[in-house]
Amino acid sequence: MSQEIQHSAGSSRFVRACLRQPVDRTPVWFLRQAGRYMPEYMAVRKHHTLLDICRTPAVAAEVTITAAERLGVDAAIIFADLLLPFTPMGVDFEFVNGEGPVVHAPIRSFEQVKALRTDRADELNYVAKSIEKVAKHFAGPRTDGDQLGIIGFCGAPFTLASYMIEGGSSRNYIETKKMMYSDGAAWGMLMEKLLTVLVAYAAQQVEAGADVIQVFDSWAGALSVADYRQYCLAPTTELVKRIQALGVPVIYFGVDTASLLTTMRETGADVLGLDWRVPLDEGWRLAGPGCAVQGNLDPITLFAPQDVLKARVEEVLRLAGGKPGHIFNLGHGIVPGTPVDNVIQVVEWVKQLG
Ligand code: CP3
Repeated sequence: MSQEIQHSAGSSRFVRACLRQPVDRTPVWFLRQAGRYMPEYMAVRKHHTLLDICRTPAVAAEVTITAAERLGVDAAIIFADLLLPFTPMGVDFEFVNGEGPVVHAPIRSFEQVKALRTDRADELNYVAKSIEKVAKHFAGPRTDGDQLGIIGFCGAPFTLASYMIEGGSSRNYIETKKMMYSDGAAWGMLMEKLLTVLVAYAAQQVEAGADVIQVFDSWAGALSVADYRQYCLAPTTELVKRIQALGVPVIYFGVDTASLLTTMRETGADVLGLDWRVPLDEGWRLAGPGCAVQGNLDPITLFAPQDVLKARVEEVLRLAGGKPGHIFNLGHGIVPGTPVDNVIQVVEWVKQLG
């Protein structure tokens, strides 16, 4: 283990939990903690597009910091988006309100993959600048003596490829799987090129002060175990290994992954993110004892009455059993319309009970 990891592990319960070291209480943060459910975010969003926020370090840092402080969580995830690396690769996209990302010319042929650029990852440096600002703001211990964790992130090769190939969100991933099954050369080259850009991007983030990198393979659950193993495991393992070589732990997360967890664990990720469909103890058993886990409250329970919500929080903590290596989180992102007070209440309960 690198000295850097041991160093930050001493001061942050979030990083310690990622490394399965003992902590004074369970650390807590939320996927999509800075988002449209939060009035402070909507106030900023009134004057900026999503991409403007991502590409303006002062604003991205402000949004990141405001969410972490408002909620009182133990980690701040940098405000950015999975698709940002598409721009320096030469893939144009936009966010269409209410529809999510749209790629104008989806990548579906070998020639298109061949034309993707991998030499301009430095253009993503605005994300590193945002991280620097956040790290500076949170330098030094908080009132409880703990150092707030700073999370950088990137997409996993499969999930990013699916956006490039489908041109947006998808239900059946037909075009993505068509390329996987019918054009191994294009798929292999696409995985290689994404890997090159993602490793450089993650390195910028670590250099800027990210304590941990989360790799989002949000849509890996669309794959059978056999297809995940054949087409995605090797490039994802390479990504995880090369991020860990930068001296930080890796959290690897996808949705609807109960059947994939043991295989996802083969990437060597330090932490597996669990979605809410799998009971936490069962998910942890599948991930194995040598792995930390993050999760896994159903984000929609945040709409439930207090007694139901509290019982669900207690259940997640009970299933974690107080073992080192649990990070409390949701099983996926906070959705628009979620009552902010309920999110804050969950943080309070985890602090009391975890
Ligand atoms: O605090 C945070 O977590 C916010 C930072 C963040 C964003 N995107 C900003 C954002 C993070 C960690 C992401 C990651 C991301 N982006 C993922 C992986 C996480 C997951 O949900 O599985 C994915 C799949 C994307 C791609 C993406 N970006 C989609 C599919 C959408 C539309 C979905 C929606 O909620 O409308 C986005 C838009 C987006 N990225 C929003 C935010 C806050 C909401 C739209 C807005 O503010 O206009």
